[in-house]
Amino acid sequence: MSLLEINDLSLWYGDKRVLYDVSFTLEEGEVLCIVGESGSGKSSILYATIGLLPSNARLRGSIRFKGVELLELPESRKRKIRGRDMGMVFQEPSTYLDPLFTAGAQIEEAYRAHFPKAQDARQRALEAARLVGIPKAEEKLKMYPHQLSGGLKQRVCIAAALVCEPALLLADEPTTALDVSVQKRILSLFRRIRDMGKSILLVTHDFGVVAEVADRVVVLKEGKVVESGDVYEIFDSPKEDYTKLLLSAI
Ligand SMILES: Nc1ncnc2c1ncn2[C@@H]1O[C@H](COP(=O)(O)OP(=O)(O)OP(=O)(O)O)[C@@H](O)[C@H]1O
Ligand SMILES: [Mg+2]
Repeated sequence: MSLLEINDLSLWYGDKRVLYDVSFTLEEGEVLCIVGESGSGKSSILYATIGLLPSNARLRGSIRFKGVELLELPESRKRKIRGRDMGMVFQEPSTYLDPLFTAGAQIEEAYRAHFPKAQDARQRALEAARLVGIPKAEEKLKMYPHQLSGGLKQRVCIAAALVCEPALLLADEPTTALDVSVQKRILSLFRRIRDMGKSILLVTHDFGVVAEVADRVVVLKEGKVVESGDVYEIFDSPKEDYTKLLLSAI
């Protein structure tokens, strides 16, 4: 059984169809990249998976996580999975972090959301911060978002996504807003997280990012999977013109 199995997933926003029978699987300890141009439906796949689609969205098909059909779960069960079994990292850390709370408080909050009675939230937050490579973590966690660099803010977001030790990490263009050297370090962090046995579903428009982190690739065009496979296969012998076009950009 795969950790995540998406089968014939279709999605509409109102009358507008944006996904067409999308299917792929994600195994334990694997990084799968969904790559495609803007508007191809990449983020929509992540939001469908974590159960955060807007109210005008309608889904058909199947999303199985650890064998459980997510599309049939009541909202109360989905809420238990979100943040606990699946963490999510967004493109722009500044829009995710609350400027009024310290970095540490926000990681602790992510933990308390699922373990409200836990006495060790502060310790867990510190461990998560160290895990994602925040230097002098104890000091940094006392700081407010505006006092941290973009790269550190993104590490705080990744720590918040990992503090409950989810099996699956979803990441939506997590390095697009960062400059290139910081980008590289964040991508190597994702590889390290994978090496700890976690699974990562990462969305990007950039084949440069795919080259850095992916084990397998799904190429999405206008809501359809046009090609998928092992990262080496896709780079060495892309079959579709669309994939070749995306590859030619790097
Ligand atoms: N809430 C919404 N209501 C209506 N249409 C939407 C909504 N969210 C997204 N869309 C449309 O659905 C399509 C897919 O959007 P989505 O954000 O999933 O694409 P994407 O591949 O993530 O794009 P980008 O690279 O720009 O982030 C686009 O045409 C978008 O305009
Ligand atoms: Mg998107």
